[in-house]
Amino acid sequence: MGKIISLVNQKGGVGKTTTSINLSASLAYLGKKVLLIDLDPQGNTTTGIGINKGDIENSIHEVLTGNCEITQAIVRTKYKNLYVLPATINLAGLDMELMEKSKTNQGFVKNAQLKQYLDPIKNLFNYIIIDCPPSLGLITTNALTASDSVIIPVQCEFFALEGITQLLNTIMLAQKNLNPNLDIEGVLLTMLDSRTLLGLEVVEDIRRFFKERVYNTIIPRLVKLTEAPSHGKPIIAYDPKHRATEAYINLAKEVIERNGNI
Ligand SMILES: Nc1ncnc2c1ncn2[C@@H]1O[C@H](COP(=O)(O)OP(=O)(O)O)[C@@H](O)[C@H]1O
Ligand SMILES: [Mg+2]
Repeated sequence: MGKIISLVNQKGGVGKTTTSINLSASLAYLGKKVLLIDLDPQGNTTTGIGINKGDIENSIHEVLTGNCEITQAIVRTKYKNLYVLPATINLAGLDMELMEKSKTNQGFVKNAQLKQYLDPIKNLFNYIIIDCPPSLGLITTNALTASDSVIIPVQCEFFALEGITQLLNTIMLAQKNLNPNLDIEGVLLTMLDSRTLLGLEVVEDIRRFFKERVYNTIIPRLVKLTEAPSHGKPIIAYDPKHRATEAYINLAKEVIERNGNI
């Protein structure tokens, strides 16, 4: 059975994209077959994994608007076990397009489009990782409807918990109205600057709030993680021996363990 996990947080800059790329690459390295879906119109996951936007024939937008088969949009990366469903800026118009369709087509469920296309291919992969945009709009609700669980990245900074109530509320509403099976897979602490007391205090606060849902692995603030995507590489390919690679491999191992080693 494939497991669909979305990276969500309506705050931008918390590490959703960095984690989507590097968790996917690490899971693939550990032998899991992974599909990484870019669901952010910015397309940073797409370029960060090394796909040239000019080479994209079909993106997630064409899939979600019924203009191509999902299998026609999935791209094989140069990394073993790792596949990508890319995004381009045209995804920014999806909200309006889905709204329009739901007005004119009776029975068109605007929140269930991604699920409809993912369900048939779900079992071809061990993990499907979805990078969500920094909003709680229709794109994100499509991800929540299609997913088995969510990983919430939280940046280790003073306002870390700001917006978390709204996020948890959205997840609860999604569980109630869209997807009763949606779980919180885990909470990931990102960008920890361990030289500052503040960072460590925030870690304590978040652990107190989310308890055992928080992964033991904390992603440190490391410049290498910002360099790697500009070379179109996950950290494991950019600098396999780096501390950042070790951190994401450890996270992938924890994810696999929480899923009964599947
Ligand atoms: N652990 C980290 N250490 C240093 N910089 C990071 C780390 N994680 C992410 N970044 C950088 O912070 C910025 C925001 O990260 P990103 O993953 O794009 O967040 P989001 O997808 O939530 O908006 C990017 O420039 C990224 O390279
Ligand atoms: Mg992002």
